[in-house]
Amino acid sequence: MAKKPYVILLASQKGGVGKTTIALNLAVALTYKKFKVLLVDSDTESASLSEQLGIKAEGKGYLDILGTNTEIGDALFSYEPIDLYLIPGNQDGSRTMPKPEHLVKFYGKLARADFDFVIIDSPPGLFSNEIARYLNDVAILTTPDSVSSSSSSKIAQYCQKFKLEHRLIINRMGYSKFDLEREEVERIYGDVSFQAVPEDKIVAESLMKHKPAYMIDKNSDFCIAIDELARDYALKIRQQGDTHEEEFERSTEPTLFEKLAKWFLK
Ligand SMILES: Nc1ncnc2c1ncn2[C@@H]1O[C@H](COP(=O)(O)OP(=O)(O)OP(=O)(O)O)[C@@H](O)[C@H]1O
Ligand SMILES: [Mg+2]
Repeated sequence: MAKKPYVILLASQKGGVGKTTIALNLAVALTYKKFKVLLVDSDTESASLSEQLGIKAEGKGYLDILGTNTEIGDALFSYEPIDLYLIPGNQDGSRTMPKPEHLVKFYGKLARADFDFVIIDSPPGLFSNEIARYLNDVAILTTPDSVSSSSSSKIAQYCQKFKLEHRLIINRMGYSKFDLEREEVERIYGDVSFQAVPEDKIVAESLMKHKPAYMIDKNSDFCIAIDELARDYALKIRQQGDTHEEEFERSTEPTLFEKLAKWFLK
């Protein structure tokens, strides 16, 4: 029997908080860990994944599958430097809202696709409830400021309502000395578990080189944080009974997330 992929949606209420950057590098990190990964850019407006990678994928895009009879396997773009598969966003600047029935069909196809992980980069805003039942995990992105944190907390409430597993990723930690304090985050999010990703200049270098940060310097602070996120997801698959034999157990040393969390929650 074909296994079902573990489907992760990266979401944020506010734009520009790092969804595409983290989705891409998480996908690369999981690919390096020998998982078969499909990365989907469902942002029809900015198609920034193609821009970040410097690729042109004519006829192999989100809108080529959505609302058509094209199967996932016939529209995959293979990112050759590593064994990573993509469904890029289309670059026609279309602003049409996807029809609910098309979304259901598309996510149904994703849920049957032969991958270990499907990672979906989404446009800013609340995702539709039609797709909720196809998701295994929602990674809610925010930056450590009150505007982004308050707005993204709506997504956490939405996930609670639909009993969807979710986590908060606080990106660009350390960027400003005006980052939120512990009490503020607790007040906004309650007890949602969160993970931190630091501000790092490797991300700007990666944009300039059109190459994922994880493929430039795995030991940068940003990539160490991404690696820890990838390990967490790898453990999820193991818990679901998959038989990946790699060593994904957590070490007893505090992780970068935990160190940052202590700093952040001081
Ligand atoms: N950890 C980080 N360190 C430094 N720069 C970062 C980091 N994360 C993201 N950035 C930068 O922030 C900007 C926005 O990132 P990104 O495009 O990934 O956000 P997004 O949430 O996908 O945006 P949109 O909502 O427009 O799709 C980019 O210039 C990116 O390089
Ligand atoms: Mg984006």
